[in-house]
Amino acid sequence: RSAANTAPAEREQWTGQTGFILAAIGSAVGLGNIWRFPGVAYENGGGAFLIPYLIALLTAGIPILFLDYSVGHRFRGTAPLAYRRIHPRAELLGWFQILLSFVIAVYYAAVIAWAGSYFVFSFGLQWGDDPQGFFLGEYLQVGEPTISTTLVSAVALPLVLTWAVILIVLALGVAKGVEKANFIGLPLLVLAFLALVVRAITLPGATDGLDALFTPNWGALTDPEVWIAAYAQIFFSLSIAFGIMVTYSSYRKRKSNMTSPGLVVAFANSSFEVLAGIGVFSALGFLAHQQGVGIADIEGLTGPILSFVTFPAVISQMPGGSLFGALFFGCLVVAGFTSIISILQGVSGSVQEKFGLGIRQSAVTVSAICAVISIALFSTTSGLLALDTVDQWANNIGVVTSAILMTLLLVWVLRRGEELRFHLNAVSTFQIGRWWNFLIGVVGPVFLAYMLIQKVVSLLT
Ligand code: PHE
Repeated sequence: RSAANTAPAEREQWTGQTGFILAAIGSAVGLGNIWRFPGVAYENGGGAFLIPYLIALLTAGIPILFLDYSVGHRFRGTAPLAYRRIHPRAELLGWFQILLSFVIAVYYAAVIAWAGSYFVFSFGLQWGDDPQGFFLGEYLQVGEPTISTTLVSAVALPLVLTWAVILIVLALGVAKGVEKANFIGLPLLVLAFLALVVRAITLPGATDGLDALFTPNWGALTDPEVWIAAYAQIFFSLSIAFGIMVTYSSYRKRKSNMTSPGLVVAFANSSFEVLAGIGVFSALGFLAHQQGVGIADIEGLTGPILSFVTFPAVISQMPGGSLFGALFFGCLVVAGFTSIISILQGVSGSVQEKFGLGIRQSAVTVSAICAVISIALFSTTSGLLALDTVDQWANNIGVVTSAILMTLLLVWVLRRGEELRFHLNAVSTFQIGRWWNFLIGVVGPVFLAYMLIQKVVSLLT
């Protein structure tokens, strides 16, 4: 039998509460906030999107964040081990979450690498007059997938670098690697990002952009897709139901306040997200202003195109654009890094516990496998399509399924809801009432199941 049942004598630990909060915010604040949220909000009702978003945060985001914390902290293991300690067969759920994380890491790394390349390209505005044809265009070619030399130099090389840094951080361990990386990265990110947003909102046309983002389209509220998008955004953005927060909370000391840090993390993350929306759309308003068109006339307001085609156009138009570009892509890189480290720590920690490997052994194994897949995939022209597909399945369907299974299993099948709530309350200052059991046991699963069915039907028809 593997060593998985016997916890190592010394579990790795954060140096303290601040370390944990920093790392948890670092995990939450990522590409999802800067690169995903603004476009998703714009596409799903603009200002009206904030309503499903807020409801998703309060009815599922924070409650499931607490659930992740309670499982990891009480059962002191990465997701597979912690669930296994609850019930041997629940281990499978843990591995399902690890699988989702792994799949996401493959494309997440690629986006970091793109951003890294664009950081460098910003200095010389190297995309010239044609941001579309410059780079992402390689992925937009139709026909048989081929390896492209542009992609090898602009993506594969930075990907190697990305993975090397991830590997080093993981190999240094939780306190000296992961926590340190966040300790350096997070303050840097906040400062750079604030500078970016201030610059963006003072550009001519910024208010048009904000109007476009925040003008509510109330009709969107009756569209189930909009609600799914809100829940998916919250799950992705808070890094919940991926087993990652289970892992992170398993590295806290036994007597550790869990709930109040959770609230800090959740609100910090959403604030950053809204701030990113303001920054990104102010900049888009500026672009529309320069081109003398309306925001809606600009193509590419969502997804990868927004950051890597539309944004370069903004940067080219702007006085001092190089600096702005470097700040923007630099923020993407740093925000992405502190998140992908958490994803990989979840995977690597699980492999470590399951197979009794050392920290370095499992860090090398896991990063190497993930690196090879992402480098191979994103050096070919099919990378972007793969990203879209994975984003649909892993983020919208996979993680919602994971959350449903988690809540049903813990609350109804294994009946651990009260035990977990007592555990959180015993260690924390902010006390959770029975409303929590109701949210994770009834409201959450019902909402999520309904949305999941809608989504699957719409993807299949
Ligand atoms: N929360 C991160 C973001 O917003 C991404 C992430 C997803 C991190 C899943 C960990 C797990 O970009």
